[in-house]
Amino acid sequence: MTTYLRQARTSASQQVAPFTGEGAYHGSTRPRVEPLREAPAPPLVDELRPRTLEQYAAEGRRDIAEFEAVFPNHHAVVETLPIPTQEAIQSDGVSFCWCPIDDAIREAGPLTRSVLEAMRAHVGGGKRHVYIDSKIQYFAPGDVPVDSQHWHVDGSIVARDERARRLGHALLHDMRARLQAPALGPRYLAYQSSGHCATLFATAPVTLTLPELIPNFDELDRRVRALAPPAVAQPPGSIVRFDGLSLHRAVAATDAGWRLWVRCVETDRMVTPDASIIACYGKVYRTPT
Ligand SMILES: [Fe+2]
Repeated sequence: MTTYLRQARTSASQQVAPFTGEGAYHGSTRPRVEPLREAPAPPLVDELRPRTLEQYAAEGRRDIAEFEAVFPNHHAVVETLPIPTQEAIQSDGVSFCWCPIDDAIREAGPLTRSVLEAMRAHVGGGKRHVYIDSKIQYFAPGDVPVDSQHWHVDGSIVARDERARRLGHALLHDMRARLQAPALGPRYLAYQSSGHCATLFATAPVTLTLPELIPNFDELDRRVRALAPPAVAQPPGSIVRFDGLSLHRAVAATDAGWRLWVRCVETDRMVTPDASIIACYGKVYRTPT
């Protein structure tokens, strides 16, 4: 298991791929390449239990119903740190992927460590795991930090199994299950060093009609965009708190430059990332100019 990567970075060595919009949020909606050796399934915890899908399977239902989804969009800036220099970001050295927070604090470069120590004071507790993801990325104008600009939530309840296939999909997000038991969901803190490529967060509750089970975030994105809720770009140097029902989306960089992004996840889900993930975790996605 590899949860961190130490490497020298230059703008020339930044990994770049064409932007497709097809996914690559945490829990990509792309079909997965099957691992060579099946890893043992982690224990099913209430946070990730697809209760709606379980009900569909038990009743033999084949049609996905819609429901009224209310996203409270909890979002708050909890602290603002000094904005680091571009040099400090570039030279920080270590990035993380599902790394336990204590390990991350031990291995981090000076800038990331200062962010993690600030974040640790805001960890609420009560979840089994506290993981750190981080990226040190160099953006050209128009680059996107992930391969999607869709409105979405993090840590959705995902099923990739026979129950989903019976409904015609390789993967389904059980949106109703998360919305009916929001307190069970994951909690997040996120930091961004810079304002030139800032995540957009919805800042007011959003109510919309949504299929109970969705194969990707396309439909959710369409319906949120139609409502155009008030939203705010994450301020540079800030740590924001949000949860598993906070709508947000990536935006393209407006200027060239380095950005450190750090996310702290409090979750009951045990994650053991594949060693191949971290090597391409900081890739940026280039939109056509
Ligand atoms: Fe996200």
